[in-house]
Amino acid sequence: MTTTTDRPAAWQQWQDSWDRQQEWYMPDREERFRVMLDLVEALAGPAPAVLDLACGTGTITDRLLRRIPGARSTGVDLDPALLAIATGTFATDDRVEFVTADLTDPDWTRALPRRTYDAVLTATALHWLDTEPLRALYHRLSGVLREGGVFLNADHMADASAPRINAAARAHTEARMARERAEGAQDWAAWWSAVADDPVLAEPARRRFGLLGDPRTPAPDGGTARRARPTTVEWHTATLREAGFAEARAVWCSPSDALVAAVR
Ligand SMILES: C[S@@+](CC[C@H](N)C(=O)[O-])C[C@H]1O[C@@H](n2cnc3c(N)ncnc32)[C@H](O)[C@@H]1O
Repeated sequence: MTTTTDRPAAWQQWQDSWDRQQEWYMPDREERFRVMLDLVEALAGPAPAVLDLACGTGTITDRLLRRIPGARSTGVDLDPALLAIATGTFATDDRVEFVTADLTDPDWTRALPRRTYDAVLTATALHWLDTEPLRALYHRLSGVLREGGVFLNADHMADASAPRINAAARAHTEARMARERAEGAQDWAAWWSAVADDPVLAEPARRRFGLLGDPRTPAPDGGTARRARPTTVEWHTATLREAGFAEARAVWCSPSDALVAAVR
């Protein structure tokens, strides 16, 4: 819940509460951004044009511009409420623009202000896409990146070959989350309730609930449908190579997540 009528300060409060909420699920979230941006510096040059794919509130764009002030960023998302926070936050920064597009739409790249980018970056987003739309997206991304450009995807990626390690890591994570919840950590549903209560965000939040569902109400399947989607490093690297990328490999991992890098 915002506590100020000063809008720039309010946007920053929404950014901060988004970060805390996401970090409750992923305490190593900043670490993956650090490795991601190390590779942008290594592969994309000192003033890269970057596509922040499924940008949400623009977290990657924020970390990018802090690290590489000469970069430019296009953020793409379809969530009106998260885009409202993103556009409000970067309203006075002419290095940044945001585009509303659905990444499963075959023509979504037409909405972009540039034909090619030096880097495409994304985090905690592509697990929302089913297998075939994600495969099609990877093919389209190879057309959006210049030759030698880099794609970096940090997301939930499992390795089912180690069930005891996975179960122990999951139990450890659940214990931490329960502890932090007892200390007041805000989850996804509570964060969205607060957004809907902000008079400035209530209308985009209502549109978001119509488009993507209302996170304040748990999914009837408990989210199990999502878990059938591709999540292994091997699927991502093989599909990126099929889509025309010259190289693809994991460059960072945790027990539940990985960062995959691919060079076009
Ligand atoms: C958990 S958020 C992550 C946002 C940001 N990358 C971050 O790390 O904070 C996932 C984002 O994916 C976006 N998204 C999911 N499906 C999408 C689609 N089909 N087209 C565009 N954006 C999508 C959601 O709207 C949301 O902003």
